[in-house]
Amino acid sequence: MNILLLGSGGREHAMAWKIAQSPKVSNLYIAPGNAGTSSAGTNLAIAADDFQAIKKAVNDYAIDIVIVGPEDPLVKGIVDFFEADVELNKIPVIGPNRLAAQLEGSKDFSKQFMVRNHIPTARYQSVTIDTIEEGIVFLKTLEAPYVLKADGLAAGKGVLILNDLEEAVEELKKMLQGKFGAAGNTVVIEEFLSGIECSVFVITDGKNYKILPEAKDYKRIGEGDKGLNTGGMGAVSPVPFADAGFMQKVEDRIIRPTVEGLNKEGIVYKGFIFFGLIKVKNEPVVIEYNARMGDPETEAVMLRLKSDIVDLFEGVAAGNLNEKNVEFDSRSAVTVMLVSGGYPEDYEKGKVISGFDKVDGSIVFHAGTKELDGKVVTNGGRVIAVSSYGATKDEALAQSFTNAQRIDYDGKYFRRDIGFDL
Ligand code: AMP
Ligand code: GLY
Repeated sequence: MNILLLGSGGREHAMAWKIAQSPKVSNLYIAPGNAGTSSAGTNLAIAADDFQAIKKAVNDYAIDIVIVGPEDPLVKGIVDFFEADVELNKIPVIGPNRLAAQLEGSKDFSKQFMVRNHIPTARYQSVTIDTIEEGIVFLKTLEAPYVLKADGLAAGKGVLILNDLEEAVEELKKMLQGKFGAAGNTVVIEEFLSGIECSVFVITDGKNYKILPEAKDYKRIGEGDKGLNTGGMGAVSPVPFADAGFMQKVEDRIIRPTVEGLNKEGIVYKGFIFFGLIKVKNEPVVIEYNARMGDPETEAVMLRLKSDIVDLFEGVAAGNLNEKNVEFDSRSAVTVMLVSGGYPEDYEKGKVISGFDKVDGSIVFHAGTKELDGKVVTNGGRVIAVSSYGATKDEALAQSFTNAQRIDYDGKYFRRDIGFDL
């Protein structure tokens, strides 16, 4: 079959790598892809949210199934667009529709959903400019630190954690006055949860679900989890504290109630659900949902998924995911992200990347790269994800670290301590 994968990051390269291994695939296209995805398929110069251009590509390349990597096209309603078009409505799209993607697209929506379905999450209150006084009253009932979240998508920047009440009140006002644009028209004020985080992934056909390997990502720029937040500096799978007992609780209290809740409420969800969890006193609590796979978690998770991912996509499309089998590789996988100097603040692009030929024993996924005059150059803050297997996490990390040193470009930076807290 012919597959079209939307997106251009490390997550999409890892998915493309996995999809390309399936004997079911005739042609794989990636739109727009990056310099790495072109080794797994054919890149198409189409933005992942240009629905008309995607429609044309689906017709031109006789696409049988579309896989959506990032959240943007989902929140903008690509699934609804396909369903409403007579030429497209027979083509399955793996991803939730616009309403279902609100689990990620609106924090207020996802909090209300969790409360309705008795899914454990932090205590909260949603406020707008008209109810700001109630928000301040609620803030005063909480203990420091204070968590403020812009309701809408804010490119991962919409969450503030503040130590001081006065500062929290000031920031709440700024958010409601447009600090994050319309994404902050509603702000979710939340109780702070203290614990260790992990990411759990599920693929669902709307009724049945399969749990994929879990992972932990490392969001801060500095070693020891210090400094500014990034899109993610590395990932580890499996997560030792997410043992069988913990995962059973996750399934019973979080995954099943989520899929059943969506079903009961008539919200059609076919695709990946990303549960951002925190372990508080040994109990799993939901920090957030995402309507897609994680990045850089996918760059570790794909190594551990032994089953044919295209077979799972077919199960989602046909609604018979219950008949499919998901097998994990028992080894550890560790991903180390190489980023641009200056990231997550200002950084330069266009630096020539060398050393790919020296890599041995790791799998190199491109995140922010492009081809220019026959060379591979940096094209984003997160540039390359180096992923490796190991009998242990430490072995996998050492392997990724060795190869991270072999790839080079001006300003390269990476963390050497991925998995340090596990
Ligand atoms: P989110 O975009 O909701 O995932 O939030 C980004 C990050 O902020 C999370 O990965 C957590 O590290 C942190 N965070 C969010 N909500 C809370 C909370 N209620 N308590 C503690 N940390 C939080
Ligand atoms: N790694 C976190 C995310 O993809 O949102």
